Amino acid sequence: MDDMTRFDMDDAARAILAKNDRGGYTVPTDRLYPFQWNWDSAFVAMGFATYDVDRAYRELERLAEGQWDDGMIPHIVFHAPSDTYFPGPDVWGTKHRIPTSGITQPPVFGMALRCVHEAATEAGLPDARERSRVLFQAALRHHRWWLSARDPDGTGLVAILHPWESGSDNSPAWDVAFARVPTDTRTAIRRRDLGHVDSAMRPHDIDYQRFIHLVDLYRECGWDPAVQWARTPFKVAEIQMTSILARSTADLLVLAEGLGTTDERSELRGMLDRLVAGLARRWRPRLNRFVSLDLISGEDIEAPTQAGFMPLLAVTLDDAQREAVAAEIARWCDNAVGALPSTPSFSPVFEPKRYWRGPIWAVINWLAADGLRSNGLPQLATSLDRAIVRAIERTGFFEYFDPVTGEGAGGDAFSWTAAAYLVLRRRAGNGASDKGS
Ligand code: GLC
Repeated sequence: MDDMTRFDMDDAARAILAKNDRGGYTVPTDRLYPFQWNWDSAFVAMGFATYDVDRAYRELERLAEGQWDDGMIPHIVFHAPSDTYFPGPDVWGTKHRIPTSGITQPPVFGMALRCVHEAATEAGLPDARERSRVLFQAALRHHRWWLSARDPDGTGLVAILHPWESGSDNSPAWDVAFARVPTDTRTAIRRRDLGHVDSAMRPHDIDYQRFIHLVDLYRECGWDPAVQWARTPFKVAEIQMTSILARSTADLLVLAEGLGTTDERSELRGMLDRLVAGLARRWRPRLNRFVSLDLISGEDIEAPTQAGFMPLLAVTLDDAQREAVAAEIARWCDNAVGALPSTPSFSPVFEPKRYWRGPIWAVINWLAADGLRSNGLPQLATSLDRAIVRAIERTGFFEYFDPVTGEGAGGDAFSWTAAAYLVLRRRAGNGASDKGS
């Protein structure tokens, strides 16, 4: 692709973010996801930071409006009503000042804050310091919530209580643990997603029954973390979540140099040490990757998914691990797109188009590439960046990509894919062209 076309693609990415803007926050895509989503917005903020730092701050500030008094930042903030999505605010029945869901999502917030703060400082934005300081405090309260509500026993791994929290909604990683969740619901299920995209790309009805069973249960627990912890049938100490939390903690630690107190710095250092130690214990040499832990059965979750490589965001691998991971990732990427899939094609449950059971996500590759760079594997990192840039340039700003054919799938005009393009294209350099691929 020549430079001229590249500039057009940059414009197209910005146009998607503008089109999905609903007033200082960005919906993931029209209709299918008509509210503000937590980790989507954090990635979007980093996309905005490449050309409009004021708007990048706004994205995080609007997300922080949804933060609960206990520090939790919800996975959805329902700033304005919409009837194109289920389950809406009435099903969640939460009590925050503005309607929100009652569960959370990966805390990319801290990573995004560092990125936005650095861009704003470089651009000389006059109120950067004050805005960063307020958001830094929100992030710190959020991290404290994570460690107390989701790792009450101090293991160094934080747990998810709902597959939607992971951001990888119907990943094969949950199959065994999720099968224990009953399928009866108090809420009538009125799926809206199937009106927007093909059912072959979406979770099954029985998955939705379990998703909603858990929402019903937690609503009955009054959204009290301790009661939920005691009563839930689904509790996974999850490595992707813990890795993102750890990476964000490391980023907050850097920000704390200028924005925090001595006590806050040592608190963050303590959190980071605990999380990194927790992650390091999850390495399995036999599998060449890390594994999550099912806290109900006490068993390792061995299903191969992208999560197995996310600890690279926070853990420093030794030489043997580095070599093993590089070979394993290269094996998984041996597909049409050349990027890291959510489930590898050699898995018996691989489905190239169904949500999180095969497809390639731009933001997952963004994180994987960050982890590879931190671990001295810059070439492999750049090859992931480039593969994503190419996939987008070939087929468009889709929600995700089929690893076998390279086609875009799921929702179109997707915000985090546009943000990923803006960021990854810059760091992928010119080698992202179609030539030689
Ligand atoms: C789906 C994805 C989740 C994402 C949301 C909005 O639920 O699984 O990760 O945040 O869509 O894009």
